[in-house]
Amino acid sequence: MTTKIFRRRLLQGAAAASTLALLQARAVAAASPRFTVGHNDFLLDGKPLQIRCGEIHFARVPREYWTHRLKTIKAMGLNTVCAYLFWNYHEWREGKYDWAGQRDAMEFCRLAQQEGLWVILRPGPYACAEWEMGGLPWWLLKAPGDAFLRSRSEAFLAPSRRWLAEVGRTLGPLQVTRGGPILMVQVENEYGFYGDDRDYMRAMRKAILDAGFDVPLFQCNPTNAVARTHIPELLSVANFGTNPAAGFKALQEVQQGPLMCGEYYSGWFDTWGAPHRRGGVENAVADIAAMLEANGSFSLYMAHGGTTFGLWGGCDRPFRPDTTSYDYDAPISEAGWIGDKFTAYRNALTPFLAPGEKLPAPPPRKPVMTIPAFALEETAPVTANLPARVIEDVSPRPIEAYDISRGLVAYRVTLPAGPAGVLEAARVRDLAWVRVDGRLVGTMDTRHRRFKVTIPARSKPATIDILLYTIARVNFGVEIHDRKGLHGPVTFTPGKGAAQPLENWQIRAIDFDADAPLPPLAFRRGPSREAAFWRGSFTAQRSDDTFLDMSSWGQGIVWINGRCLGRYWSIGPTQTMYLPGPWIQVGRNEVVVLDLTGPTLERGAARIAGLATPILDQLRRERDLARPPSTVKLRLSGVEPVHEGEFAPGSATQDVRFATPRRARQFCLESLDAFDGKPYAAVAELSLLGADGKTVEQSGWTVAWVDSEEANNEDGGALNAINGQNSDFWHTAWSGKGAGAAHPHRLVLDLGKDVEIAGLRYVPRQGKDDVTGRIRRYRAYLGERLASED
Ligand code: GLA
Repeated sequence: MTTKIFRRRLLQGAAAASTLALLQARAVAAASPRFTVGHNDFLLDGKPLQIRCGEIHFARVPREYWTHRLKTIKAMGLNTVCAYLFWNYHEWREGKYDWAGQRDAMEFCRLAQQEGLWVILRPGPYACAEWEMGGLPWWLLKAPGDAFLRSRSEAFLAPSRRWLAEVGRTLGPLQVTRGGPILMVQVENEYGFYGDDRDYMRAMRKAILDAGFDVPLFQCNPTNAVARTHIPELLSVANFGTNPAAGFKALQEVQQGPLMCGEYYSGWFDTWGAPHRRGGVENAVADIAAMLEANGSFSLYMAHGGTTFGLWGGCDRPFRPDTTSYDYDAPISEAGWIGDKFTAYRNALTPFLAPGEKLPAPPPRKPVMTIPAFALEETAPVTANLPARVIEDVSPRPIEAYDISRGLVAYRVTLPAGPAGVLEAARVRDLAWVRVDGRLVGTMDTRHRRFKVTIPARSKPATIDILLYTIARVNFGVEIHDRKGLHGPVTFTPGKGAAQPLENWQIRAIDFDADAPLPPLAFRRGPSREAAFWRGSFTAQRSDDTFLDMSSWGQGIVWINGRCLGRYWSIGPTQTMYLPGPWIQVGRNEVVVLDLTGPTLERGAARIAGLATPILDQLRRERDLARPPSTVKLRLSGVEPVHEGEFAPGSATQDVRFATPRRARQFCLESLDAFDGKPYAAVAELSLLGADGKTVEQSGWTVAWVDSEEANNEDGGALNAINGQNSDFWHTAWSGKGAGAAHPHRLVLDLGKDVEIAGLRYVPRQGKDDVTGRIRRYRAYLGERLASED
């Protein structure tokens, strides 16, 4: 591969001295590639190397602990670490790169090398990883369009090339060809999950080559998407959390080369308001052994998940924001602790060590301390602390158009006197509180596509104030085109009248920017009844790790000594926030909390304590924003199914064609029984096919109705069936109210608009043959109102 680049470069007749120097470096590299991709093996200095890799994101681990975590990873039996670069973490403002301190990727690689670990670099441009917008910078969204990201559009390609060139400049010197630890570089990330334009993959590959990378390049995809974007110029690896044999088979079908799992899921991430997820141990160690026995390589996703500090947390599709804890139920916990899971992995890996290789003992755990509850007695209401700068616009546009990156946005408009009616925005990202002359009248919430509130009658013109909070940009699927704020037109529809546009808005914003520096705030003593910043302090004798208990608070953000720790939300499942020792000073520490809905006062004050152990698994949905009771009813009686059939057993994806395609706004899948004879239904993914046999775009979809969801022991939410992830699934309830109710089960999807539907694609729940919930007989329905309000 390297010789080819070399020749092509020569032919281009490069004249500049710098290019010549690069060519010379390449020539040297070509003479000693050290690491190559062989027919059946990765080869290091000509000898087979089985890559036992684990993922760790340096951005999610306090820099002071990088070495501690790398030593722990090494002690688990791994020889390589996988590291994403999150583009937006390094270029939050266009053209301004930041590689300092916590962002020092070069130092992270050098430390890995010091610990005897190789590095696999995954520079994007897109990463996913439950990170804000999957790592893409928000300013890309200043360009128009809803499908240009991750495409060959210049609006995406040009900035991506600049980013990758910057990665080459900074990390290129750390490739194994120049004496560094970087063995391989990944191009894009699971692109086959998103698109099928192979030339896009070629363009991304070229950008990485042009950036000066001369180590082997590869792409990763989930098992079922490997073939979709495979190109011979890139080694393909498969990502999965189960069934390594199927993953490796998918690779063998497209190429001759070493077998590798690019992401083997040791656990899974959490989203706010859904149960904590765990990954099994026995199946994982069996899968790892099977991969190694098959002469395969792997990377654990995650070896150590850590914490998504600051405001970097992402959001699953359609809109389910990720928790700040990225513990992931990984073998090395959020705070770097090890236990049974770590030991099981270490024991499983030991038989596969290279001759002469010995595992070091894991380093001791970092000390922990508790902090007695302290009060936050000063408050600064958000509305009284908005910056003076006012943006005026006829109708609100997404905040990116105003160069606002994320944060709190206050909108004001005047509504004339008149009867009660409904105020409605075209879209609201993400949460908004609506006040009329200072009185709260309702909330808007993108999770439920609730973009309207009822406004009471007014005898004189009233001031409408809308305070909007951006949580996170979606990191997966086409929904990454996630422009924030209130999207106009905003209309007011009086009782029986026609909708009128509300115009002439005043907009003021606290832009939280890259690292959320605290804005200037005027604090006063005493609690606040509205969205406010709260301030207090504690005195520490030591600077050890602790877990801040946020369970008595509502929803918002925490800062410690001016540094943004992250977001919290007491709906759970995470109730604590990992506060690493190095962020704490011996002596006084100032804590500021932004709370949007208000804390519960204990003994007259809002308090926080530091605990010695985390709480990651307590759901408290009753603390969520009030949601009007649902009046949606199922209306299937008398509707003829568009199709009736029997799915094939097993985990393979199945396409079904309907005899008579038709346009419809809603779709219903009805299970009649399951292969294991049990009363449950489960679905990993459900898509609909258009007349061309391709899946129809599903970014406007919502779950209109579902008869049953498991919501306690695991996350069986129906949204899992349309979030594009095969690894999670909708599952009918098996605990609590309605557990084990019999078939039929029904899931009704609202497609957001009328769409021509010619069939469906069903991905069964993944896993072993006897996994619960695989539907056998089923019916499908299409209609306008299969489930609707009265
Ligand atoms: C995919 C992505 C990862 C991560 C996992 C889920 O496999 O490649 O970045 O988002 O899903 O944790």
